[in-house]
Amino acid sequence: MIEKLSKTFHEKFSAEPLIVRSPGRVNIIGEHTDYNNGFVLPAAIDKAIYIAASKRNDDEIHLHAVDFNEDFTCNLSYVKPSEQHWPNYILGIVDQLQKSGYSISGFNAVVDGDVPVGAGLSSSAAVECATAFALNELFDLKISKLEMVKMAQLSENVFAGLQCGIMDMFASMFGKPEHAIRLDCRSLEYDYIPLHLDKIKIVLFNTNVKHSLSSSEYNVRRQQCEQGVTWIKEHHPHINSLRDATLNLLDEFVLPKDKLIYKRCRFIVEEIQRLLSACENLKNNNIQALGEKMFRTHEGLSQEYEVSCKELDFLVNAVKNNPSVLGARMMGGGFGGCTINLVKEEAIDGLVEGLTASYQREMDFPLTTYIAQIENGTGIVK
Ligand code: GLA
Repeated sequence: MIEKLSKTFHEKFSAEPLIVRSPGRVNIIGEHTDYNNGFVLPAAIDKAIYIAASKRNDDEIHLHAVDFNEDFTCNLSYVKPSEQHWPNYILGIVDQLQKSGYSISGFNAVVDGDVPVGAGLSSSAAVECATAFALNELFDLKISKLEMVKMAQLSENVFAGLQCGIMDMFASMFGKPEHAIRLDCRSLEYDYIPLHLDKIKIVLFNTNVKHSLSSSEYNVRRQQCEQGVTWIKEHHPHINSLRDATLNLLDEFVLPKDKLIYKRCRFIVEEIQRLLSACENLKNNNIQALGEKMFRTHEGLSQEYEVSCKELDFLVNAVKNNPSVLGARMMGGGFGGCTINLVKEEAIDGLVEGLTASYQREMDFPLTTYIAQIENGTGIVK
């Protein structure tokens, strides 16, 4: 991949590039909790985006996407969302840099990678983090990793219109081999928890669907959570997010107002607690207990938070009573993408074979499988 990228870059721009790698992510548990100031438990994986970049002597941005075999060009003084879509994850970072007063000149960039797009593995966060890291390096901007993560999140909010939380970018930037990151999205403090998965692998089943609902419904969920907080805050002004809320507060101030919003908020408050005890399970090597929590999270995401879809539910139901699958759930924003499964090594081949056939039969759609290794976060490869 790196050689091919280097070659393409030389052919297009006749210059020696800096190459940065930024990975996709999984999330063990703690879904839709990041924008509620709760905790998340993501990890960076061995699928990544690579950006090759070099400075230019003018104010132009010249981009090329290997996957789409497309070019894009614009001037630094006129950076705005493009209908081509893929350049937006790069341009959004340029926009953030400019808004924060950093001065850069024009640059060339070629982007390639093996994070499947639309699979809920955060390929967009990976492009944003790779861009921020590469430009920081090229122009010696001295921006900290955390600042880059915040810029990447803002860039997604502004240039992709998704009011996402900070998890994906944080995981891509701060990943560490064989560890999950327990991130407190309120304080942004984090620690690394070793993933001692003895003879167990993280298997991702990609539904290969992305329903059009995904970003609009995501933004709606966010508003529903905020509405719940507003109702509590009328009586308890110090409550600023669902992280600060309790089930009792929800019962008292949200349930009488709106049952649907109550159901959404309750899932989040429970999910934050579930994540904290799942971290204890992980520390005590109790993968069985962690896995049971993952199944429960799926049920909540499907029935209470209502961000699943029939393809995801099918995949989780299919493994639910399989003793070789310790835990499974939909992962990420929802309405498509992957399920994450903790599977005993010796059972993987049989499971993949059976599920590939039954998914194709039931959904009339192909299933794709990845076994995720937990890897380093964003960094320079060349
Ligand atoms: C998407 C968002 C994240 C997070 C997850 C759900 O991946 O980008 O910020 O909210 O959904 O946990």
